[in-house]
Amino acid sequence: MNKKIEQAFNDHLNAEFYSAYLYLSMANCFTAKNLDGMAGWMRLQAEEEREHAMKFLDFIGVRGGRVMLKQIDQPPLEWATPLEIFQQAYDHECEISAKINALVDLATKEGDHAAVNFLQWFVAEQVEEEAHALGIVEKLKMVGDHPMGILQMDGRLAQRTASK
Ligand code: FEO
Repeated sequence: MNKKIEQAFNDHLNAEFYSAYLYLSMANCFTAKNLDGMAGWMRLQAEEEREHAMKFLDFIGVRGGRVMLKQIDQPPLEWATPLEIFQQAYDHECEISAKINALVDLATKEGDHAAVNFLQWFVAEQVEEEAHALGIVEKLKMVGDHPMGILQMDGRLAQRTASK
């Protein structure tokens, strides 16, 4: 495997595991606020991020590269409001999209067509990831500080299943 791509993919593998950690911490914060629907939504999101990480891990292995599991940073522990949490989740997804785009640029520059092809799934996935988080942010902005609205959103997000 091209060494530059191996290193960049290992870095991204770590970023996806961090995403899982971040969303799990957000889920814990929702649990502490008795917002179980939002907590469940974030736990499923964390699980998806672990699956994203595993896709990178498997691809590195299949291409004859070496997987390097690096230390995962500690995520924040507390957020004030559901809006603050989902806004940070949305901002984080935008950062991940930028990292994916940079990987596509690198793989293209290095002429690694297999890597470019592999990354296309993530390009499409990031469109969904950003849209889901932003949709929730916009609704929470409409709800504002109204407890009934927050509880309605909690019930709505509780309906998320593992497939999305
Ligand atoms: Fe793995 Fe939410 O991007």
